[in-house]
Amino acid sequence: MSNHHQPTLTQEQLLQQAKQDLTTGVGRSVKHESAAKQVTGEAVYIDDRLEFPNQLHVYARLSDVAHARITNIDVSPCYDIPGVTIAITAADVPGQLDIGPVLPGDPLLAQDTIEFYGQPLLAVGACDLETARKAAMAAIVEYETLDAVLSVEDALEKEFYVSEPHQHKRGDSASALASAKHRLEGAVHIGGQEHFYLETQVSSVIPTEDGGMIVYTSTQNPTEVQKLVAEVLGVSFNKVQIDMRRMGGGFGGKETQAAGPACIAAVIASLTGRPAKMRLPRMEDMMMTGKRHPFFNQYQVGYDDDGRIQGYEMQLAGNCGYSPDLSNSIVDRAMFHSDNGYYLGDATITGYRCKTHTASNTAYRGFGGPQGLIMPEIVLDEIARNLGKDPLEIRKLNLYGDEGRNVTHYYQTVEDNQLPEMLAELEASSDYQKRRQEIREYNATSPILKKGLALTPVKFGISFTATFLNQAGALIHIYTDGSIHLNHGGTEMGQGLNTKVAQIVAEEFQVDFDTIHISATNTDKVPNTSPTAASSGADLNGKAAQNAAQTIKQRLIEFAARHYDVTEEDVCFKNNLVQIRDTLVPFAEFIQLAYFHQVSLSSTGFYRTPKIYYDRDQARGRPFYYFAYGAACSEVVIDTLTGEYKILRADILHDVGASLNPAIDIGQVEGAYVQGAGWLTTEELVWNEQGRLMTSGPASYKIPAIADAPVDFRVKLVENRKNQEDTVFHSKAVGEPPFMLGISVFCAIKDAIASLADYRRSPQLDAPATPERVLWAVQAMQNQHRTSQGRQQLPPNRQVSMSMSHKWIHALAELDSQGTPGILITVIEERGSTPRNAGAKMVVTTDAQFDTIGGGHLEYKVIKLARQMLEDNQHEPRLERFSLGASLGQCCGGATTVLLEPMGTDVKEIAVFGAGHVGQALIPVLASLPCRIRWIDQREEIFPEHIPRGHKGGQ
Ligand code: MTE
Ligand code: HPA
Ligand code: MOS
Repeated sequence: MSNHHQPTLTQEQLLQQAKQDLTTGVGRSVKHESAAKQVTGEAVYIDDRLEFPNQLHVYARLSDVAHARITNIDVSPCYDIPGVTIAITAADVPGQLDIGPVLPGDPLLAQDTIEFYGQPLLAVGACDLETARKAAMAAIVEYETLDAVLSVEDALEKEFYVSEPHQHKRGDSASALASAKHRLEGAVHIGGQEHFYLETQVSSVIPTEDGGMIVYTSTQNPTEVQKLVAEVLGVSFNKVQIDMRRMGGGFGGKETQAAGPACIAAVIASLTGRPAKMRLPRMEDMMMTGKRHPFFNQYQVGYDDDGRIQGYEMQLAGNCGYSPDLSNSIVDRAMFHSDNGYYLGDATITGYRCKTHTASNTAYRGFGGPQGLIMPEIVLDEIARNLGKDPLEIRKLNLYGDEGRNVTHYYQTVEDNQLPEMLAELEASSDYQKRRQEIREYNATSPILKKGLALTPVKFGISFTATFLNQAGALIHIYTDGSIHLNHGGTEMGQGLNTKVAQIVAEEFQVDFDTIHISATNTDKVPNTSPTAASSGADLNGKAAQNAAQTIKQRLIEFAARHYDVTEEDVCFKNNLVQIRDTLVPFAEFIQLAYFHQVSLSSTGFYRTPKIYYDRDQARGRPFYYFAYGAACSEVVIDTLTGEYKILRADILHDVGASLNPAIDIGQVEGAYVQGAGWLTTEELVWNEQGRLMTSGPASYKIPAIADAPVDFRVKLVENRKNQEDTVFHSKAVGEPPFMLGISVFCAIKDAIASLADYRRSPQLDAPATPERVLWAVQAMQNQHRTSQGRQQLPPNRQVSMSMSHKWIHALAELDSQGTPGILITVIEERGSTPRNAGAKMVVTTDAQFDTIGGGHLEYKVIKLARQMLEDNQHEPRLERFSLGASLGQCCGGATTVLLEPMGTDVKEIAVFGAGHVGQALIPVLASLPCRIRWIDQREEIFPEHIPRGHKGGQ
């Protein structure tokens, strides 16, 4: 073996090389290891893998009821569909049925009871997904419906929990509240959030000899999938191998809930002896899997004249869905973060784990932290407005400080608190005070648009709160050409973990990043791993990989000292070279030499986090190794006629200690901020009264897109500030903490609304602050303000309905019986990027509005037109087409057609939409009725000739 293809460099040339620093090690903005492959489409995800011969495709039939007792499931009709190989129910699972990650409660397939709308009942393996779906829908499912608990308040009242309430307590909050000069209390609903990873849950499995299984799966938690697949099959863990190259996003949604599809596919593969793949279509993924926990939080706070908190009580009620999943730890983390960066005085924090008949809510970036952490921000805003002070002043006043004000409500001392400095720096660099003044002036003269500004901090605890999870392993092989193969227990989900861990190993060996290859995370390579979660992927796996590298490096150093007869201190690794006193040897050559001298070039590595402990019974300890800090200043503008808003500018200062990779860290901060802002603004989950998730796809569930990012986006990492703890190269975790920077957007929106009452009242606004909710809050604020100034209140806001309650129907009936004239408005067609849905209806009278066709300028114009029709006493219906564009406050093109029908006229008008075969069958029937028919379709050509022309319509 020789490196004959490499030119031999002279010692002089090597000396030049040794004087240069490695350019791809720790602290460098090395490109994400998959970046190029991801943009070209070469990066392989599970569904891109070559399919195995004979592979089955799996589809699960989901329940269409929230709570029921199953009386019968008959899968025999499934087999009538050609192409079906197997249909299974709970009874067919060979091993254990329950796949609950911590506590039981998650049957792989429902057995006796259905506990949420969307629960998998049975699964079919067939030649393709469509066949499997058809067959699954053919099964007969019978049940007796039971009462369902669907809201967190209902569960709280009934004390319906997935596990017991828990409390953190310091001092005597009740007397602190009683003796405080001022008191405030309130309650707020915080919405959940759909993960919306681009790659839905997916697993592909292949049975092996001895009853084993190889599982390719998109999971943050290979070890747990290994355990659960083994358990449902009834085999030992060593028969099951998990392979996970990358996820198309996880965000916590694949910490536990990737296991279901993997286990279902494995059961089908095991029973048939054939490979099987289960990939959830988007709607099924959204219906079946859990989301961020919605919370209902209540608070009582006492404070002094300056606005300093003296007593604090908080009841945090998490909506856990039907089973425990990770909810115990998630509600704990909400409790741990209900102080954010502030000293709360005497405090009692109570966490409730409410059970509802909905999908089991799970980990999501921040892991409950955001739902607790937002509370002090809401409360401090209120205190500020009650005292007539700037919220930033009140925030700074309440930050953790010196002795006496530096211990949390769970008795961890806040060491190395960076927030006072960081807030001061961001206040200056974002020009907060000057812009505050400018915004006040702007708002004083702008009647419709109002701007808002907020600067909020984040302090986030790093470590799994289940202390034992804070461990990791790694495996390194160096081959004789000097190339390095690296595996670690973490998983790559886009966050750049593999890149960072490879940089750490590159730095240790002083070799170029390209020398290192990381293959799929695999339970055969590194066993007994923790999930890649709690932002700790790089902290834990980076240290484990560093440990493996150091083990090999030490062997190499000992070998060199022996071989060259020098001391160990004479051996040093530098920029792809090994220097032995005055001799320089290229790394690859040196490795060959070591091989020939029988040095082991392979090692495992291990790491566990020091210093942490937590006694949950006492609610005391040091659950977190350290805290990560951040601060964001967001400026927004809202439209008080429509409730719409935009983030104009965001300034962020975020602490990642000594960054392992600034480019990746900034990307994490940007993405997290936008995802956090999405959670609190446009991402709204809506369930109907039957517990069915209505927002089950991108048409109705709105995640932020590129145009929703701040127009002016300035992200900076804190410089020259190492982690004071001995973390890997003194870096800090980055994945989750910046998510909570998005809270500044929520506070800025409230600030804009508060401007309507001179900043002396706090808007009542639940999260997410959708345009509708912002509009309600604006109207409530305007009314309160009018009353307080002795003016007459505007009529109560009757117009916008959140649920699918069809208020327009009731309005029609009522107005009809009163003989009140009105116009029924229907959205007939939407084209391009319109926010209105066809079929949406509302009723408008001269002074009221019932229901909504989506709000915004379009609705505003339509209402004006309708009132004009009423004034002109028109009885003819009108069809109006609106082009969407700048004139309607829309940034993109599109068109909406709206039908305006006067009510209470003698001739009834029926509109039929669509000239397809249903329409063609309907028209002759309707034609015999004493009414006028309007038949509408864009496609002029599809109207049949035999129907009288008068029936045709459209635009
Ligand atoms: N970034 C991307 N691109 N995709 C993801 O799925 N998940 C987040 C965060 N950043 C995620 C992400 C979550 S929830 C966590 S806990 C961390 O990444 C996990 O990775 P880390 O521990 O390596 O930071
Ligand atoms: N964070 C994220 N995921 C987890 C945790 C945690 O603290 N504990 C268990 N899984
Ligand atoms: Mo992240 S929620 O800890 O996977």
